[in-house]
Amino acid sequence: MAVDIPDDLIETYRKAERVVVLTGAGVSAESGVPTFREAQSGLWAQYDPRELATPQAFVRNPRLVWEWYAWRRELIQRARPNLAHYALVDLEQATPHFLLITQNIDGFHWLAGSRDMLELHGNIARTKCFDEGHRVDGWPQSDEIPPRCPRCRSLLRPDVVWFGEGIPEHALRAAFEATRQCQVFMAIGTSAVVQPAAQLPLLAKRAGARIIEINPEQTAISLLADWSLRGSAAQVLPALVRALGFPTTAIDGARQSETAQGRDT
Ligand code: OAD
Repeated sequence: MAVDIPDDLIETYRKAERVVVLTGAGVSAESGVPTFREAQSGLWAQYDPRELATPQAFVRNPRLVWEWYAWRRELIQRARPNLAHYALVDLEQATPHFLLITQNIDGFHWLAGSRDMLELHGNIARTKCFDEGHRVDGWPQSDEIPPRCPRCRSLLRPDVVWFGEGIPEHALRAAFEATRQCQVFMAIGTSAVVQPAAQLPLLAKRAGARIIEINPEQTAISLLADWSLRGSAAQVLPALVRALGFPTTAIDGARQSETAQGRDT
C-alpha cells in the first residue's frame, strides 16, 4: 500500500531540532500483540483488561492477575518487534534530539534498538513485590501462585503501572519537559485516553509544536493533529523514514533477518 506523506510534513520534520514520540499498543499490533482495548482471546475473553490491571484486582485475586500477566508475557515472548519499531530506531538515529515515550510494556522498542526512550507504564518482563516494590530477577521454585519476594515474602507482581497507580516521578518529569521543548510531537498507535500520557499532545500543541498522528482510526488527538496519517504504523513509519530521505538501516536489518528466518523456517 503506497503511503502519501505530505510535503509540508516532510519540511516541518526536517527543520525540527527536537522530536517527541508517544506510542501506544497500536505500534505492537502488527507484532500480533492485541491492543489494550481489543477483545482478549481464549480464557481471558471474559475479562476486561481494565478490571484486571488494578491493585484492587490483585488484592482480590492475586492468582488470577498473576496468571493473566503470565499469559500476556508468553504471548509477547512469542512475538517480535515489527517494522514500526525499527522505523522509529531509524528516526531516532537521524533526529538531533529525539525522545520516545511509550505506554507499552512489551519491551519491543528497546529490543528493536530504541535507546532515547521512557517506559511510562513499566515493563511486563520485570517483576517486583507488591508491598515493598523490591525488583526481583528470580525466586525459589514454589507451587504458590503468585510466588513470594525472597526479601520480604510479600506477593510478587509484574513491574507495570496499574490503573490508579502513579507513573514513576522521574519518567513523568522527563516526558513533560521534553514535550514542552519539542517542535514536532508524534502520537502513534494510541487512543490517547489514559492520563497522564493523554495530556502530552495537548501540552506539545500549547508549546507551539506541530502534531502528527499515525493511527488507522480517529482518536481524541485527531482534533489537535496538524497531520493525521490514517494507516498502520508498520506501513506509515517506514514510508515516513524514506520520504524524509533518512538512512533505513534498522528497517533494512529487520527485513533481512525476516527473509533469513523465512528461509530457515
Ligand atoms: P488502546 O488499545 O487504547 O489503543 C490502541 C490504538 O492503536 C487505537 O487507537 C487503534 O486505533 C490503534 N491501532 C490499532 N492498530 C494499529 C496499527 N497497526 N498501527 C497504528 N495504530 C493502530 O491502547 P493504548 O492507547 O496504548 O495502560 O492504551 C493506553 C494505555 O491504556 C495502556 O498503556 C494501558 C491502558 O490503560 C496501563 O495498563 C496502565
